[in-house]
Amino acid sequence: MTNRGDGFRWEAVPVFLVSIYRCHMKHSKTLCSALLFASAVTAFGQAASAPSSSAGEKPYTVVDGNKVDPNTLQGFKTWRAAACDRCHGANQEGLVGPSLINSLKTLSKDEFVQTVSKGRPNTQMVAFSGNAEVMKNMDQLYAYLKGRSDGAITKSRVEAMQ
Ligand code: HEC
Repeated sequence: MTNRGDGFRWEAVPVFLVSIYRCHMKHSKTLCSALLFASAVTAFGQAASAPSSSAGEKPYTVVDGNKVDPNTLQGFKTWRAAACDRCHGANQEGLVGPSLINSLKTLSKDEFVQTVSKGRPNTQMVAFSGNAEVMKNMDQLYAYLKGRSDGAITKSRVEAMQ
């Protein structure tokens, strides 16, 4: 699960307060104020440099390797219904078509959408533009396959979370 918070390390707060308290037991007020200031700068610095939640957002959510959100589950169902596995393998490992585990490490989402909808001329990769189910579930299909390619979805057969 990705952290969708603001990046501020709230779990650091109690530790931080205890250390100020300990500091006052042993040292002067000025020294402790200086330490407090330094820790605050560090905490906020980390918050500021934390990756933003929108950049690098994953299109899928997975727990325990194969329990996924409804969109990703729909992607798996589309994969099965369109029988992509006939050519790309039941575990996306590749058969007559290339391994999509490998392909999606480099293929952009745009290239994926283009390939699936238009096909690749003079290859067995046909256009799916006439397949309403695939076209309607393109994002879902991508989410599922991206999760597999990232290694986040560890089993090709997925089920609903919770
Ligand atoms: C009849 C066999 C066949 C079926 C069915 C098929 N593919 Fe393919 N697919 C191929 C072949 C062969 C290629 C390689 C084309 C080439 O040489 O550029 C390919 C290429 C691709 C690529 C590009 C890979 C890359 O590295 O450039 C993607 C993505 C892809 N297929 C997704 C799918 C999806 C999703 C489905 C199901 C909706 C599907 N394919 C169904 C045979 C198939």
